[in-house]
Amino acid sequence: MTDRLTITRPDDWHLHLRDGAMLANVAPETARHFARALVMPNLVPPVVTGAQASAYRDRILAALPAGHDFTPLMTLYLTEATDPADVVAAHDTGIITAVKLYPAGATTNSASGVRDMDRIRPVLEAMAQQGIPLCVHGEVTDPSVDIFDREAVFIETIFDPLRRAIPGLRVVLEHVTTSDGIDYVRANDNIAATITTHHLVINRNHILAGGIRPHYYCLPVAKRETHRQALLDAATSGDSRFFLGTDSAPHPDKAKLAPCGCAGCFTASNSMAILAHMFAQADALERLEGFASLHGAAFYGVEKNSGTLTLVREPYEAPRQIDTPEGPVTVFDPGFTPDWRVAE
Ligand code: NCD
Ligand code: ZN
Repeated sequence: MTDRLTITRPDDWHLHLRDGAMLANVAPETARHFARALVMPNLVPPVVTGAQASAYRDRILAALPAGHDFTPLMTLYLTEATDPADVVAAHDTGIITAVKLYPAGATTNSASGVRDMDRIRPVLEAMAQQGIPLCVHGEVTDPSVDIFDREAVFIETIFDPLRRAIPGLRVVLEHVTTSDGIDYVRANDNIAATITTHHLVINRNHILAGGIRPHYYCLPVAKRETHRQALLDAATSGDSRFFLGTDSAPHPDKAKLAPCGCAGCFTASNSMAILAHMFAQADALERLEGFASLHGAAFYGVEKNSGTLTLVREPYEAPRQIDTPEGPVTVFDPGFTPDWRVAE
């Protein structure tokens, strides 16, 4: 077995960097290993216009350490009032890479999301025409639907009809968590899916069995083991429709360890070590580069990165937490010591 692996520098196609005090502490964690990241727009208030995305990008760049080699790729938060012309202009001028659809109320800071999909038809048609990808948080919000079924029900009742109505639209099913989602991506055109680091590692037992573990609570919530297996199969298969989007989503511990704790796992610091471990265990280390560094770039139509990242087979103990002005943020604990680490 090899002890050293050099891959094209990876990209993170789904990342939360937050803003203000938190931003400066979390951005370097991603910039250390990743060349680019698609930055989610669910700030308070959300990033809904091209001008706001441009200002947010400036704040991210200002928060990065000197000498960094990291490019934030921006997204717009789709609302029922989004102006198609603003989206097209922001894309034409290179300010944004994609647009994010949150069903209203589906997750952290999604109150301004979409309730009536018919209202966003004009903007989606303009995006299809211009080749602007739509990133989708794929969960229904109907309180009568069981939380573990929300992705599968979304795909059947909202996502599939929406795709059929606008077949030219390029879509990414973000942080897919079910075999239903994997099967759907495999069976259709113009579609890809991001898979997170943590959903390759945990199933719902990790959250709920033997005590409740708030640091494993994220949205979409981790499902049963058969679904985790389906995600791992897809990620390690070499199929270019599946690529890494860590969904690293920092919340201060005081917001996670609360009677109503926030959803999100913070994986920016140790994603690459965990992924190397998981891919090695699946005897698919040679496919890590495709998943983390090549497939996403190909889908988004950007050049692969010119830099590299080297991983070495040495045990890696990640820091337990990082400090931020809002308090400590706990780093995702995979429940094992990765056999691999990023070379210094
Ligand atoms: C994300 C967050 O905290 O912004 N949380 C999460 O559990 N993934 C939002 C999201 O991507 O759903
Ligand atoms: Zn997310």
